[in-house]
Amino acid sequence: MAQPLWPLCNLPDRKNLYPKSCTLFLARVCYNRQILAVNLSGVCVSEQCVAARPFLKWAGGKSQLLPDLKKRLPAQFRRYHEPFVGGGAFFFHLWNSRFLRYGAVLSDFNSELIDCYEVVRDHVDALIARLQQHKRHCQDKDYFYEVRSWDRRPDFAERSKVERAARTIFLNRTCYNGLYRLNNKRQFNAPFGHYKNPLIVDPDNLHEVSAALQHVQLRVGDFADVLNHVAAGDFIYLDPPYVPVSATSSFTHYTHQGFGEQHQRRLAGVIAELADRGCFVMLSNSDTEITRAIYSQAAAELRTETVHASRKINCDGKKRGFVEELLVYNYEVSDLPTPQVHRVLAVAD
Ligand SMILES: C[S@@+](CC[C@H](N)C(=O)[O-])C[C@H]1O[C@@H](n2cnc3c(N)ncnc32)[C@H](O)[C@@H]1O
Repeated sequence: MAQPLWPLCNLPDRKNLYPKSCTLFLARVCYNRQILAVNLSGVCVSEQCVAARPFLKWAGGKSQLLPDLKKRLPAQFRRYHEPFVGGGAFFFHLWNSRFLRYGAVLSDFNSELIDCYEVVRDHVDALIARLQQHKRHCQDKDYFYEVRSWDRRPDFAERSKVERAARTIFLNRTCYNGLYRLNNKRQFNAPFGHYKNPLIVDPDNLHEVSAALQHVQLRVGDFADVLNHVAAGDFIYLDPPYVPVSATSSFTHYTHQGFGEQHQRRLAGVIAELADRGCFVMLSNSDTEITRAIYSQAAAELRTETVHASRKINCDGKKRGFVEELLVYNYEVSDLPTPQVHRVLAVAD
């Protein structure tokens, strides 16, 4: 598959950044069987623009908060790091907006998730073919539980990465509420979702995602370990499992070990170290007394700001409400960074 010369930016951003007068066509390029017009600034201006979107539904996904996060980007930064990547909503947004000039490092404690990203990056066509096969059974409850049971068997580790990634995506699209949930034996245990017509495979988006991931390093691990190698000038966005707003509310069982108050305090310590190292750091979390207390004690230079995100407020996916979330960051917010003609520059590890 031909790689795009430029990532394909989303239309609303492009309209804000480039007035109509600047739409002089430099080239028309053929990508993914679409003709795309590219202007003098190297920006895709075709109405057929497609952008890479998260390929998994992920609890706590940041789609609702993107405008707030984007408004608070540092004016310039080198490499981008996201150590709690989940569905990667902010990463894809930054990629589509052409802000990732120095590449990115994405990581998560969930190895099945990172394997999935790796397969989308390196074996996208084989993955699409396997998902097409799963798709035929997307309303079959017995088939769902059969595929779900694979990780209870000793030969699970011997299945190919493509097979396991296709399983993760298929279960994610067909399970209840798209929830990736593990029990304490590390087995996937979300129940069947009874969807009428779930989207199991979206080849165009998977190709866009694959293109976006070509310059990305992927790592599995605890946030503290993967952040050891970051350098001054790098930007780190941290979106951990949230501090629960009530005893029964927030979901923190993304991994078998959960994410309790001691993890939150350890994370605040790591953020203070990164700030000392000269990195730009931004964290999102729930706006609770505990979160505020943890971050007001962590380091003097940390700013906190409350934003309002539209989120599901109970199990009924249709009922949404506004919840207060806390953003914590260690730099002055100024204008948006300048989008770059996309050529990812090498940065020494
Ligand atoms: C709130 S979700 C991130 C959502 C993501 N921002 C999105 O847009 O989908 C939190 C993520 O943290 C990961 N996680 C949990 N404990 C971790 C740890 N100790 N180190 C690194 N990642 C961890 C989970 O696997 C989960 O993907």
